[in-house]
Amino acid sequence: MLTVDQIYHADAFEIFSRIDDGSVDLIICDGPYGVTTNEWDRTNNIQEFNLNLIRIFSTKLKEGGALYLFGKPNCIDFIDYRLFLELRSKIVWFQPSRLAQGRTRYTNNYDIICYFVKGKKSKTFNLDAIRVPQLVELEHRLRCERVPSVTNGKFNKTKFNDKGKNPGDVWGDIKQLTYKSAELVSRDALNTIQKPEKLIERLVKASSVENDLVLDPFAGVGTCPVVCRRLGRHFIGIEKDKNFVELANARLAEAGRGVSERPNPV
Ligand SMILES: C[S@@+](CC[C@H](N)C(=O)[O-])C[C@H]1O[C@@H](n2cnc3c(N)ncnc32)[C@H](O)[C@@H]1O
Repeated sequence: MLTVDQIYHADAFEIFSRIDDGSVDLIICDGPYGVTTNEWDRTNNIQEFNLNLIRIFSTKLKEGGALYLFGKPNCIDFIDYRLFLELRSKIVWFQPSRLAQGRTRYTNNYDIICYFVKGKKSKTFNLDAIRVPQLVELEHRLRCERVPSVTNGKFNKTKFNDKGKNPGDVWGDIKQLTYKSAELVSRDALNTIQKPEKLIERLVKASSVENDLVLDPFAGVGTCPVVCRRLGRHFIGIEKDKNFVELANARLAEAGRGVSERPNPV
């Protein structure tokens, strides 16, 4: 087994065999999308590429463990992932600020995050950790009247939780980074590389608990490892670009220490 809480400078496909089967609680896979001309983003067929990853990850995950796979809207079209993992949600990460210059069709302004679980039952889904504010309108309605809501065709009392509501599967509340974002580590990481910490944080909080092991096979500039360190999760990061590994390690050093003192989960 690999030493945890490190980012390996390597090709992910050369590292997978060194990760024990059934040892990982959560995988955040933000790898190639197959849409840009960047060398790291080139694949002959993104769906087949993703199917191969899903197959490999299904062996590495614990029963009930989760995989979040990032991509474009067609990233898992026409492939049979059901042999390996159960698709629970397709989250739309809506990016209203994306330049929309298409002239012959509607410009794509969202990414997909496919949420898979190994087996029928997820072992962790911490809804309370990721609740978002209720709509003001609903709060108002609750105060003024007991309005019925409709569930399965039946009328029920409106359920209002003051801790907030489930974020749903269209996320427009987390903005893409811009060149002005304080957390941006390098202009080279803007657009295709660095994800907002808030986005990764929601996934890590929802699908893992303290001391769990999180695998980030395409770690870029280390957003997921940084979030894991801050939230007390163990991680294995892999990234083949040496400059990105250096930037990620600098971020990790900033993110605080102490997690390495915890017992190794494997
Ligand atoms: C979308 S970026 C990930 C960004 C990351 N989530 C972050 O916030 O910094 C994808 C990364 O995968 C890396 N990559 C692509 N193919 C790889 C491979 N086979 N092994 C390791 N890293 C790879 C690229 O160099 C790139 O940095």
